[in-house]
Amino acid sequence: MKGELLLLSSVIFPFYVVYGCPEKCHCHSSSKAVDCGQQGLVEIPPDLPPQTLTLYLQDNQIHQLPAFAFRSVPQLMTLNLSNNSLSTLAPEAFHGLQQLQVLNLTQNSLHSLENRLFQSLPQLRELDLSSNNISHLPASLGELWENLTVFAAQQNQLQQLDRTLLESMPNVRFLFLKDNLWKCNCHLLGLKLWLEKFIYKGGLMDGVICASPDTWRGKDLLKIPHELYQPCLPPSPDQVSSQGQRPGSAHRDALSLPENHNVGERDPSECGLPPKPRPANLRHAVATVIITGVVCGIVCLMMLAATIYGCAYAAITAQYRGEPLAQTSEPGKMEGKELFASSPA
Ligand SMILES: *[C@@H]1O[C@H](CO)[C@@H](O)[C@H](O)[C@H]1NC(C)=O
Ligand SMILES: *[C@@H]1O[C@H](CO)[C@@H](O)[C@H](O)[C@H]1NC(C)=O
Ligand SMILES: *[C@@H]1O[C@H](CO)[C@@H](O)[C@H](O)[C@H]1NC(C)=O
Ligand SMILES: *[C@@H]1O[C@H](CO)[C@@H](O)[C@H](O)[C@H]1NC(C)=O
Repeated sequence: MKGELLLLSSVIFPFYVVYGCPEKCHCHSSSKAVDCGQQGLVEIPPDLPPQTLTLYLQDNQIHQLPAFAFRSVPQLMTLNLSNNSLSTLAPEAFHGLQQLQVLNLTQNSLHSLENRLFQSLPQLRELDLSSNNISHLPASLGELWENLTVFAAQQNQLQQLDRTLLESMPNVRFLFLKDNLWKCNCHLLGLKLWLEKFIYKGGLMDGVICASPDTWRGKDLLKIPHELYQPCLPPSPDQVSSQGQRPGSAHRDALSLPENHNVGERDPSECGLPPKPRPANLRHAVATVIITGVVCGIVCLMMLAATIYGCAYAAITAQYRGEPLAQTSEPGKMEGKELFASSPA
């Protein structure tokens, strides 16, 4: 069987058998590495040794990858395409690389990636998409990547990242997401929550620094207070029944339309009414009643005192003249004259 295969491959790849290595590359037979770096290549060399495990294609001008581009090297474990001119990748470009563990696509001109582009790479351990122009990553790039430990997408144009994509990498340990255009609104809540768990489990990352809205520019997504994201959560049933959706949706607007961050201006209508002045008036009225009462009381007492004084005086005078008190019909007029008349006598 082996002899047949060897015979077959020498028939199919006669040039490899004769020359051993593509024209512009260096082949290291012991490590099964092929180095075609910095050779001005514009496409994948056609005659790669089929048992190649490592392929260096960095620092070239390769501008596209056709479908099944690496069909001839099915055992490839490391592929370096860093610093090329790739702007698009055919959906099946990496098809057939069942053993690929490291894929380096940094420093290219990629602006988007096809959904499930890497789905035929089940063994992938490191995926580096840094320094491209990627503005959107699909929710799914592959199957469940159980072996993926490094995911790098720093220095791109990402505004958000679907949590589902990160959930397809259950064992990722290193995340590089810096230098993107992260828009820290409600759409990033899923990422924030996922990253909190990731760090709690010991993951390492370089930080998600917000580029917008203005309020959060330059701030780390993980340092934005949790309460501000509370309104992004769908309201729970009891919240809906007790207070409706108003408070939540107001804050949601503030986060999803962050230019309008003067949330404070909406609220005062609720508690803007000043307390009514009635109690002060009441106090006045009470005071008036008391003063009036006191004054009336004093006047009454004075009148009483005057009456008592009058009665006492009349009684004394009556006693002095020896007349019964009851008979003094008009005592006032008589008294004065008689006193006056009696005193000289
Ligand atoms: C990228 O590749 C070119 C050659 O294609 C090389 O001149 C340049 O130095 C490389 N850039 C980096 C940052 O390695
Ligand atoms: C890929 O090539 C770049 C540029 O030469 C190099 O810095 C990097 O270490 C290589 N990565 C891998 C995984 O070989
Ligand atoms: C990919 O290549 C870049 C240099 O172009 C290097 O800095 C980076 O570490 C490589 N990524 C991986 C995962 O090896
Ligand atoms: C992860 O790697 C291990 C060891 O190389 C391998 O046995 C396993 O099949 C890989 N997992 C997947 C999902 O391919």
